[in-house]
Amino acid sequence: MEIMLADSLGFCMGVKRVVDMAYRAQAKSAGLPIMTLGPLIHNRQETDRLATDGIRVAEDPTQLSDDGIVVIRAHGVTPQVYEDLKSRGVRVMDGTCPYVHYSQRKAVELKNAGYEVVIVGDQQHPEIIGILGHLGGHAHVVKSVEEARQLPPMERIGTVAQTTISPQKYQTVVAALRERASEVKVCETICDATEENQAAVRRLAAEVEFLYVIGGRHSANSNKLVEQAGLFCERARLIETAEEIRPEELRGLERVGVSAGASTPDWLIQRVVLRLREIDRELNAVTAA
Ligand code: F3S
Repeated sequence: MEIMLADSLGFCMGVKRVVDMAYRAQAKSAGLPIMTLGPLIHNRQETDRLATDGIRVAEDPTQLSDDGIVVIRAHGVTPQVYEDLKSRGVRVMDGTCPYVHYSQRKAVELKNAGYEVVIVGDQQHPEIIGILGHLGGHAHVVKSVEEARQLPPMERIGTVAQTTISPQKYQTVVAALRERASEVKVCETICDATEENQAAVRRLAAEVEFLYVIGGRHSANSNKLVEQAGLFCERARLIETAEEIRPEELRGLERVGVSAGASTPDWLIQRVVLRLREIDRELNAVTAA
């Protein structure tokens, strides 16, 4: 049985960068508590590993210890959070993804140039809360064409998008915004990591008989990979760990594919590949006997 990996899978650059940052902080901490403001990634196994290594999660700034080091996650935070931490003397390592920084900068530029800023994304998402904070709360957030159509008529609109939404969705919402204003300036702030993993899983799905996507049950990004794989491969399944692989589903197969969501660490991917090799050997041994 051939085990084929997607050309692009697992951690995106922003997540890899912030996890490395947290481990660097821990290496230099000399016993000081290391905390992250919110979970660094949406993957329980990786969050457990970080906790075991002494990198803990604070759900809000009040839970941070003043003598510790805090790692800001890739989604970014509001300027108020930075100020609060600074005034308390908490040491900060800023893991905001460069793509998110770019979005924050573009949104502020639009506002300063006199545009009404419209953020296309989910109002509850930490990334959007952070961008809104950089605009002092002066922006509209819409996540659908319907919501865009409900905005009041405006002179000049400037848009930024949540980094992880699909380009198609951004285009359709922007088209609806063009009906609300005489000028719409569009900033391209979507990160291509999501699309790269999706394009890679589609290519892989067309070549294999069974495909595993490794990722959290509640990870939207991982579920989307399963959906995309399903367009080309009838048997695409989400698993969180190697233990969920059922040997009987692999019997008689020649090519099996593996992809992983943007929050899935390399070590979980390696465990799945090792388990698949092990099952393959077991199945071959039974056939030969
Ligand atoms: Fe950054 Fe894109 Fe990942 S915005 S955190 S590289 S999905």
